[in-house]
Amino acid sequence: MNNVFLTGFMATGKTLVGRWLAQRLGMPFLDADVEIEREAGMSVADIFDRLGEAEFRARERRTLERLCALESAVIATGGGAVVDPRNRAAMRASGVLVCLTADPDTILGRLGSSRDRPLLADANGREARIRSLLGERAAAYGDAELIIDTSQRSPEEVADAIVEWLAGARVLPIRNSLR
Ligand code: S3P
Repeated sequence: MNNVFLTGFMATGKTLVGRWLAQRLGMPFLDADVEIEREAGMSVADIFDRLGEAEFRARERRTLERLCALESAVIATGGGAVVDPRNRAAMRASGVLVCLTADPDTILGRLGSSRDRPLLADANGREARIRSLLGERAAAYGDAELIIDTSQRSPEEVADAIVEWLAGARVLPIRNSLR
């Protein structure tokens, strides 16, 4: 327990921030998507493609349950993991949720020409898709102890801000927003 879960939309920096944060805290870092890929023996894109999104979500749920049993780890989650309230409840029982955000233009810019996110595979209409998913998921992303906008911050700066917040926020629940 005492885990730190990084949640938030695709390309908000969860993996990069997670690595820095884990280093700063002297804790192991795990990426839920990497764990899902390792267990499945195929990429997230292939799981979506061959088995479908529902099967990906079932695997995501099982993997998160396993990760929630860890002690003192920094865990980055896939952008859709918090949509299922059962996942949020499991993570909350196992640690704190820190949600990284970014504005749609920043997300679009960071994604560049990458094609590895099945939900944003269609380059046409990508911005509209980002905006609609952000809208649909707003409440799920808002359900976190700390929310940090990463649009104008480097991964190191975000990690430092989280370390600072953790140092002063041992008593939960605390809701905070660093904009
Ligand atoms: C998803 C986000 C991805 C990955 C999958 C679905 C989502 O993770 O889990 O493509 O539903 O937002 P990242 O947020 O690490 O890109």
